[in-house]
Amino acid sequence: MPDPDAGPARCRPWPTRRLPPGVAMTGLLEINELCVRVPRPGALWQRLGGRNPPPLEILCGVTLDLAAGETLALVGESGSGKTTLARAIMGLQPFCAGSIRFEQAVLTGRGRRRWHRLRRRAAMIFQDAVASLSPRLTVGRLVTEPLSIHGRPMGDRAAEAGRLLSMVGLSPDMAGRYPRELSGGQARRVTVARALAMEPRLVIADEPTAGLDVSVQAEILNLMTGLQRDLGVAYLLITHNLAVVRHVSHRMAVLYLGHLVEVGATAAVTARPRHPYTAALLASEPSIDPARRPAGPALDGEVPSLFDRPPGCAFHTRCRRATDLCRTLQPQFLPVDTGHVVACHHPLD
Ligand SMILES: Nc1ncnc2c1ncn2[C@@H]1O[C@H](COP(=O)(O)OP(=O)(O)OP(=O)(O)O)[C@@H](O)[C@H]1O
Ligand code: SF4
Ligand SMILES: [Mg+2]
Repeated sequence: MPDPDAGPARCRPWPTRRLPPGVAMTGLLEINELCVRVPRPGALWQRLGGRNPPPLEILCGVTLDLAAGETLALVGESGSGKTTLARAIMGLQPFCAGSIRFEQAVLTGRGRRRWHRLRRRAAMIFQDAVASLSPRLTVGRLVTEPLSIHGRPMGDRAAEAGRLLSMVGLSPDMAGRYPRELSGGQARRVTVARALAMEPRLVIADEPTAGLDVSVQAEILNLMTGLQRDLGVAYLLITHNLAVVRHVSHRMAVLYLGHLVEVGATAAVTARPRHPYTAALLASEPSIDPARRPAGPALDGEVPSLFDRPPGCAFHTRCRRATDLCRTLQPQFLPVDTGHVVACHHPLD
Protein backbone atom coordinates (compact mmCIF):
# COMPACT_ATOMS: atom_id res chain seq x y z
CA MET A 1 0.00 0.00 0.00
CA PRO A 2 1.23 3.53 -0.54
CA ASP A 3 3.68 4.66 2.09
CA PRO A 4 2.47 7.95 3.58
CA ASP A 5 6.04 8.75 4.72
CA ALA A 6 7.49 8.38 1.25
CA GLY A 7 4.72 10.08 -0.69
CA PRO A 8 5.07 11.31 -4.24
CA ALA A 9 6.17 14.73 -3.03
CA ARG A 10 9.43 13.19 -1.78
CA CYS A 11 10.06 11.23 -4.95
CA ARG A 12 12.29 12.52 -7.67
CA PRO A 13 10.33 12.85 -10.92
CA TRP A 14 10.74 9.76 -13.06
CA PRO A 15 10.96 9.68 -16.81
CA THR A 16 7.66 8.30 -17.93
CA ARG A 17 7.76 4.61 -18.87
CA ARG A 18 4.20 4.27 -20.05
CA LEU A 19 3.49 1.49 -22.48
CA PRO A 20 2.94 2.97 -25.92
CA PRO A 21 -0.48 3.23 -27.53
CA GLY A 22 -1.61 -0.06 -29.04
CA VAL A 23 -0.39 -2.17 -26.13
CA ALA A 24 -3.40 -3.36 -24.15
CA MET A 25 -3.75 -2.04 -20.62
CA THR A 26 -7.04 -3.63 -19.83
CA GLY A 27 -7.63 -6.66 -17.74
CA LEU A 28 -7.50 -7.99 -14.25
CA LEU A 29 -4.42 -6.23 -12.94
CA GLU A 30 -2.88 -3.00 -14.15
CA ILE A 31 0.31 -1.66 -12.63
CA ASN A 32 1.32 1.80 -13.71
CA GLU A 33 4.74 3.36 -13.10
CA LEU A 34 5.19 1.73 -9.74
CA CYS A 35 8.15 2.90 -7.66
CA VAL A 36 9.37 1.31 -4.45
CA ARG A 37 12.07 2.97 -2.38
CA VAL A 38 13.40 2.01 1.00
CA PRO A 39 15.64 3.95 3.38
CA ARG A 40 19.34 3.09 3.21
CA PRO A 41 20.66 1.18 6.18
CA GLY A 42 21.87 3.72 8.74
CA ALA A 43 19.87 6.53 7.09
CA LEU A 44 18.48 7.67 10.43
CA TRP A 45 21.97 8.14 11.89
CA GLN A 46 23.10 9.97 8.78
CA ARG A 47 20.10 12.28 9.02
CA LEU A 48 20.92 12.98 12.65
CA GLY A 49 24.41 13.89 11.43
CA GLY A 50 22.90 16.46 9.05
CA ARG A 51 23.14 14.41 5.86
CA ASN A 52 20.14 13.26 3.84
CA PRO A 53 21.04 10.05 2.02
CA PRO A 54 18.81 9.22 -0.95
CA PRO A 55 16.66 6.08 -0.54
CA LEU A 56 17.48 2.82 -2.27
CA GLU A 57 15.41 2.44 -5.41
CA ILE A 58 14.10 -1.09 -5.60
CA LEU A 59 11.44 -0.71 -8.32
CA CYS A 60 11.64 2.10 -10.86
CA GLY A 61 8.47 2.94 -12.80
CA VAL A 62 7.19 -0.59 -13.41
CA THR A 63 4.22 -0.72 -15.81
CA LEU A 64 2.59 -4.07 -16.43
CA ASP A 65 -0.81 -5.60 -17.03
CA LEU A 66 -2.30 -9.03 -16.56
CA ALA A 67 -5.49 -10.32 -18.13
CA ALA A 68 -7.97 -12.71 -16.53
CA GLY A 69 -6.97 -16.33 -17.07
CA GLU A 70 -3.49 -15.42 -18.28
CA THR A 71 -0.09 -16.56 -17.02
CA LEU A 72 2.54 -13.86 -17.02
CA ALA A 73 6.05 -14.94 -16.08
CA LEU A 74 8.28 -12.44 -14.30
CA VAL A 75 11.97 -13.19 -14.71
CA GLY A 76 15.24 -11.54 -13.79
CA GLU A 77 18.37 -12.24 -11.81
CA SER A 78 18.37 -12.43 -8.04
CA GLY A 79 17.82 -9.00 -6.51
CA SER A 80 16.03 -7.55 -9.56
CA GLY A 81 12.90 -6.82 -7.50
CA LYS A 82 10.54 -9.67 -8.41
CA THR A 83 9.41 -10.46 -4.87
CA THR A 84 9.19 -6.76 -4.03
CA LEU A 85 6.79 -6.28 -6.95
CA ALA A 86 4.70 -9.24 -5.81
CA ARG A 87 4.56 -7.91 -2.26
CA ALA A 88 3.60 -4.44 -3.50
CA ILE A 89 0.70 -5.89 -5.50
CA MET A 90 -0.52 -7.72 -2.40
CA GLY A 91 -0.31 -4.55 -0.30
CA LEU A 92 2.57 -5.95 1.75
CA GLN A 93 5.20 -3.51 0.47
CA PRO A 94 4.64 0.26 0.55
CA PHE A 95 5.24 2.08 -2.72
CA CYS A 96 6.01 5.76 -3.12
CA ALA A 97 4.67 6.47 -6.62
CA GLY A 98 2.54 4.85 -9.29
CA SER A 99 -0.70 2.94 -9.03
CA ILE A 100 -2.12 -0.55 -8.95
CA ARG A 101 -5.56 -1.29 -10.31
CA PHE A 102 -7.20 -4.64 -9.64
CA GLU A 103 -10.59 -5.53 -11.12
CA GLN A 104 -11.03 -1.86 -12.06
CA ALA A 105 -10.50 -0.66 -8.47
CA VAL A 106 -7.51 1.63 -7.96
CA LEU A 107 -5.47 0.50 -4.98
CA THR A 108 -3.80 3.82 -4.32
CA GLY A 109 -4.62 6.08 -1.39
CA ARG A 110 -5.53 4.63 1.92
CA GLY A 111 -8.60 2.70 0.81
CA ARG A 112 -8.18 -0.17 3.23
CA ARG A 113 -11.43 -1.75 2.11
CA ARG A 114 -10.06 -2.06 -1.44
CA TRP A 115 -6.90 -3.79 -0.25
CA HIS A 116 -9.05 -6.08 1.84
CA ARG A 117 -11.10 -6.93 -1.24
CA LEU A 118 -7.92 -7.63 -3.21
CA ARG A 119 -6.69 -10.00 -0.54
CA ARG A 120 -9.95 -11.95 -0.89
CA ARG A 121 -9.65 -12.06 -4.68
CA ALA A 122 -5.89 -12.53 -4.98
CA ALA A 123 -3.54 -14.93 -3.23
CA MET A 124 0.19 -15.30 -3.00
CA ILE A 125 2.29 -18.42 -2.85
CA PHE A 126 5.39 -17.10 -1.08
CA GLN A 127 8.94 -17.79 -2.18
CA ASP A 128 9.52 -19.89 0.93
CA ALA A 129 5.95 -21.22 0.85
CA VAL A 130 6.63 -24.58 2.43
CA ALA A 131 8.62 -23.03 5.29
CA SER A 132 5.73 -20.60 5.84
CA LEU A 133 3.29 -23.45 6.61
CA SER A 134 2.81 -23.36 10.36
CA PRO A 135 4.23 -26.65 11.73
CA ARG A 136 1.62 -26.69 14.49
CA LEU A 137 -1.41 -26.75 12.19
CA THR A 138 -2.76 -29.81 10.44
CA VAL A 139 -3.02 -29.83 6.66
CA GLY A 140 -6.81 -29.60 6.94
CA ARG A 141 -6.54 -26.51 9.11
CA LEU A 142 -3.87 -24.98 6.86
CA VAL A 143 -5.90 -25.23 3.66
CA THR A 144 -9.08 -23.86 5.24
CA GLU A 145 -7.38 -21.13 7.27
CA PRO A 146 -7.82 -18.44 4.56
CA LEU A 147 -11.60 -19.02 4.71
CA SER A 148 -11.68 -18.41 8.46
CA ILE A 149 -9.37 -15.39 8.18
CA HIS A 150 -11.74 -13.77 5.69
CA GLY A 151 -14.86 -14.81 7.63
CA ARG A 152 -16.20 -16.91 4.79
CA PRO A 153 -18.84 -19.45 5.92
CA MET A 154 -17.64 -22.95 5.11
CA GLY A 155 -20.12 -25.31 6.79
CA ASP A 156 -18.26 -28.50 7.51
CA ARG A 157 -14.53 -27.71 7.76
CA ALA A 158 -13.50 -31.33 7.20
CA ALA A 159 -15.58 -31.53 4.01
CA GLU A 160 -14.14 -28.25 2.75
CA ALA A 161 -10.59 -29.40 3.51
CA GLY A 162 -11.28 -32.66 1.66
CA ARG A 163 -12.60 -30.75 -1.35
CA LEU A 164 -9.56 -28.47 -1.48
CA LEU A 165 -7.13 -31.35 -1.06
CA SER A 166 -8.84 -33.35 -3.82
CA MET A 167 -8.63 -30.31 -6.08
CA VAL A 168 -4.82 -30.41 -5.86
CA GLY A 169 -4.64 -34.18 -6.22
CA LEU A 170 -4.13 -35.04 -2.55
CA SER A 171 -6.18 -37.55 -0.59
CA PRO A 172 -8.66 -36.00 1.86
CA ASP A 173 -7.13 -38.38 4.43
CA MET A 174 -4.08 -36.16 4.50
CA ALA A 175 -6.06 -33.46 6.33
CA GLY A 176 -4.91 -34.86 9.68
CA ARG A 177 -1.20 -34.75 8.85
CA TYR A 178 1.29 -32.07 9.85
CA PRO A 179 3.63 -30.29 7.39
CA ARG A 180 6.68 -32.26 8.65
CA GLU A 181 4.95 -35.46 7.51
CA LEU A 182 4.68 -34.29 3.86
CA SER A 183 7.07 -34.71 0.95
CA GLY A 184 8.26 -31.56 -0.86
CA GLY A 185 5.73 -32.08 -3.65
CA GLN A 186 2.84 -32.73 -1.24
CA ALA A 187 3.70 -29.65 0.80
CA ARG A 188 3.79 -27.58 -2.40
CA ARG A 189 0.34 -28.91 -3.32
CA VAL A 190 -0.91 -27.81 0.09
CA THR A 191 0.38 -24.28 -0.61
CA VAL A 192 -1.51 -24.31 -3.93
CA ALA A 193 -4.72 -25.55 -2.22
CA ARG A 194 -4.34 -22.84 0.40
CA ALA A 195 -3.88 -20.18 -2.28
CA LEU A 196 -7.00 -21.38 -4.13
CA ALA A 197 -9.22 -21.67 -1.04
CA MET A 198 -10.82 -18.26 -1.59
CA GLU A 199 -11.38 -18.92 -5.32
CA PRO A 200 -9.07 -16.04 -6.28
CA ARG A 201 -8.97 -14.38 -9.69
CA LEU A 202 -5.20 -13.89 -9.36
CA VAL A 203 -2.50 -16.05 -7.82
CA ILE A 204 1.01 -14.68 -7.48
CA ALA A 205 3.34 -17.66 -7.33
CA ASP A 206 6.89 -16.80 -6.24
CA GLU A 207 9.19 -19.65 -7.28
CA PRO A 208 6.47 -22.29 -6.83
CA THR A 209 8.69 -25.13 -8.03
CA ALA A 210 12.07 -24.11 -6.59
CA GLY A 211 13.92 -26.93 -4.89
CA LEU A 212 11.72 -29.69 -6.30
CA ASP A 213 12.82 -32.62 -8.44
CA VAL A 214 12.14 -32.11 -12.14
CA SER A 215 9.32 -34.68 -12.17
CA VAL A 216 7.63 -33.07 -9.15
CA GLN A 217 8.07 -29.63 -10.73
CA ALA A 218 6.20 -30.90 -13.78
CA GLU A 219 3.42 -32.28 -11.56
CA ILE A 220 2.97 -28.93 -9.80
CA LEU A 221 3.02 -26.96 -13.05
CA ASN A 222 0.55 -29.31 -14.70
CA LEU A 223 -1.65 -28.98 -11.63
CA MET A 224 -1.52 -25.18 -11.83
CA THR A 225 -2.26 -25.05 -15.56
CA GLY A 226 -5.10 -27.55 -15.14
CA LEU A 227 -6.63 -25.42 -12.39
CA GLN A 228 -6.26 -22.37 -14.62
CA ARG A 229 -8.25 -24.11 -17.34
CA ASP A 230 -10.95 -25.13 -14.86
CA LEU A 231 -11.16 -21.99 -12.73
CA GLY A 232 -9.94 -19.22 -15.05
CA VAL A 233 -7.43 -18.00 -12.49
CA ALA A 234 -4.59 -15.72 -13.67
CA TYR A 235 -1.02 -16.35 -12.54
CA LEU A 236 1.83 -13.96 -12.04
CA LEU A 237 4.58 -16.55 -12.03
CA ILE A 238 7.95 -15.56 -10.63
CA THR A 239 10.72 -17.93 -11.58
CA HIS A 240 14.40 -18.25 -12.45
CA ASN A 241 13.64 -21.33 -14.49
CA LEU A 242 13.29 -20.37 -18.15
CA ALA A 243 12.15 -23.87 -19.07
CA VAL A 244 9.18 -23.31 -16.76
CA VAL A 245 8.55 -19.93 -18.39
CA ARG A 246 8.46 -21.52 -21.85
CA HIS A 247 6.27 -24.34 -20.64
CA VAL A 248 3.50 -22.47 -18.85
CA SER A 249 3.46 -18.73 -19.49
CA HIS A 250 1.55 -16.86 -22.17
CA ARG A 251 3.61 -13.69 -21.79
CA MET A 252 6.81 -12.83 -20.00
CA ALA A 253 8.22 -9.70 -18.43
CA VAL A 254 11.94 -9.21 -17.80
CA LEU A 255 13.07 -7.16 -14.81
CA TYR A 256 16.60 -5.77 -14.37
CA LEU A 257 17.62 -3.85 -11.28
CA GLY A 258 14.05 -2.69 -10.71
CA HIS A 259 13.38 -1.73 -14.34
CA LEU A 260 11.21 -3.70 -16.72
CA VAL A 261 13.24 -4.08 -19.90
CA GLU A 262 11.13 -6.33 -22.14
CA VAL A 263 7.53 -7.55 -22.16
CA GLY A 264 5.90 -9.72 -24.79
CA ALA A 265 4.42 -13.06 -25.74
CA THR A 266 6.67 -15.79 -24.37
CA ALA A 267 7.00 -17.50 -27.73
CA ALA A 268 8.05 -14.24 -29.41
CA VAL A 269 10.46 -13.12 -26.68
CA THR A 270 12.20 -16.47 -26.33
CA ALA A 271 12.43 -17.01 -30.10
CA ARG A 272 13.69 -13.50 -30.79
CA PRO A 273 14.67 -11.49 -27.71
CA ARG A 274 15.11 -7.84 -28.57
CA HIS A 275 16.70 -6.57 -25.36
CA PRO A 276 20.39 -7.47 -24.84
CA TYR A 277 19.69 -8.46 -21.22
CA THR A 278 16.89 -10.85 -22.22
CA ALA A 279 19.12 -12.33 -24.91
CA ALA A 280 21.95 -12.82 -22.41
CA LEU A 281 19.60 -14.33 -19.84
CA LEU A 282 18.30 -16.81 -22.43
CA ALA A 283 21.81 -17.54 -23.68
CA SER A 284 22.96 -18.37 -20.17
CA GLU A 285 20.14 -20.90 -19.76
CA PRO A 286 21.48 -24.42 -19.41
CA SER A 287 20.17 -26.33 -22.42
CA ILE A 288 21.02 -29.58 -24.08
CA ASP A 289 19.46 -28.39 -27.31
CA PRO A 290 21.79 -25.86 -28.99
CA ALA A 291 19.08 -25.04 -31.52
CA ARG A 292 17.06 -23.39 -28.74
CA ARG A 293 19.84 -21.00 -27.77
CA PRO A 294 19.55 -17.53 -29.21
CA ALA A 295 22.67 -16.02 -30.68
CA GLY A 296 22.96 -13.32 -27.98
CA PRO A 297 25.98 -13.00 -25.71
CA ALA A 298 26.06 -14.69 -22.29
CA LEU A 299 25.80 -12.52 -19.18
CA ASP A 300 29.04 -10.79 -18.17
CA GLY A 301 29.81 -9.50 -14.70
CA GLU A 302 27.66 -8.93 -11.67
CA VAL A 303 24.40 -7.05 -11.15
CA PRO A 304 25.39 -3.53 -9.97
CA SER A 305 24.74 -2.69 -6.35
CA LEU A 306 21.55 -0.85 -5.46
CA PHE A 307 23.83 1.49 -3.50
CA ASP A 308 25.54 2.50 -6.74
CA ARG A 309 22.86 2.43 -9.40
CA PRO A 310 24.33 3.20 -12.85
CA PRO A 311 23.00 6.32 -14.61
CA GLY A 312 21.25 5.98 -17.96
CA CYS A 313 20.39 2.42 -18.86
CA ALA A 314 20.88 0.32 -15.72
CA PHE A 315 22.28 -2.53 -17.87
CA HIS A 316 25.00 -0.47 -19.56
CA THR A 317 27.79 -1.70 -17.26
CA ARG A 318 27.30 -5.23 -18.62
CA CYS A 319 26.09 -4.56 -22.14
CA ARG A 320 28.39 -5.03 -25.12
CA ARG A 321 26.24 -2.70 -27.23
CA ALA A 322 26.41 0.22 -24.77
CA THR A 323 27.07 3.68 -26.23
CA ASP A 324 27.42 7.12 -24.65
CA LEU A 325 23.68 7.55 -25.11
CA CYS A 326 23.06 4.43 -23.00
CA ARG A 327 25.37 5.69 -20.28
CA THR A 328 23.46 8.94 -19.89
CA LEU A 329 19.82 8.49 -20.94
CA GLN A 330 17.40 5.95 -19.53
CA PRO A 331 15.65 4.22 -22.45
CA GLN A 332 11.86 4.29 -22.77
CA PHE A 333 9.64 1.41 -23.80
CA LEU A 334 9.24 1.13 -27.56
CA PRO A 335 7.03 -1.32 -29.43
CA VAL A 336 9.01 -3.72 -31.61
CA ASP A 337 6.00 -5.82 -32.55
CA THR A 338 2.36 -6.18 -31.55
CA GLY A 339 2.28 -6.44 -27.75
CA HIS A 340 6.08 -6.71 -27.61
CA VAL A 341 7.86 -3.77 -26.00
CA VAL A 342 11.53 -3.17 -25.24
CA ALA A 343 13.35 -0.48 -23.25
CA CYS A 344 16.64 -0.20 -25.16
CA HIS A 345 18.29 2.47 -27.31
CA HIS A 346 19.73 -0.18 -29.63
CA PRO A 347 17.41 -3.21 -29.63
CA LEU A 348 18.61 -6.43 -31.23
CA ASP A 349 17.39 -7.17 -34.75
N1 LIG B 1 13.01 -3.52 2.87
C1 LIG B 1 14.15 -3.56 2.21
N2 LIG B 1 15.25 -2.89 2.64
C2 LIG B 1 16.41 -2.91 1.95
N3 LIG B 1 16.57 -3.57 0.79
C3 LIG B 1 15.52 -4.26 0.32
C4 LIG B 1 14.26 -4.30 0.99
N4 LIG B 1 13.42 -5.07 0.27
C5 LIG B 1 14.13 -5.50 -0.80
N5 LIG B 1 15.38 -5.01 -0.75
C6 LIG B 1 16.44 -5.23 -1.75
O1 LIG B 1 15.82 -5.06 -3.02
C7 LIG B 1 16.37 -5.95 -3.96
C8 LIG B 1 15.28 -6.74 -4.61
O2 LIG B 1 14.81 -7.70 -3.69
P1 LIG B 1 13.77 -8.83 -4.12
O3 LIG B 1 13.62 -9.75 -2.96
O4 LIG B 1 12.54 -8.18 -4.62
O5 LIG B 1 14.55 -9.54 -5.32
P2 LIG B 1 14.15 -10.82 -6.16
O6 LIG B 1 14.17 -10.43 -7.59
O7 LIG B 1 12.89 -11.42 -5.63
O8 LIG B 1 15.40 -11.77 -5.86
P3 LIG B 1 15.43 -13.38 -5.73
O9 LIG B 1 15.37 -13.89 -7.14
O10 LIG B 1 16.75 -13.63 -5.08
O11 LIG B 1 14.28 -13.82 -4.89
C9 LIG B 1 17.40 -6.79 -3.21
O12 LIG B 1 18.67 -6.24 -3.44
C10 LIG B 1 16.99 -6.64 -1.77
O13 LIG B 1 18.10 -6.75 -0.93
S1 SF4 C 1 20.08 0.81 -23.82
FE1 SF4 C 1 22.21 0.50 -24.44
S2 SF4 C 1 23.21 -0.37 -22.62
FE2 SF4 C 1 21.01 -0.58 -22.33
S3 SF4 C 1 20.55 -2.60 -23.08
FE3 SF4 C 1 20.21 -1.19 -24.78
S4 SF4 C 1 22.15 -1.17 -25.90
FE4 SF4 C 1 22.58 -2.06 -23.91
MG1 LIG D 1 12.44 -13.16 -4.71
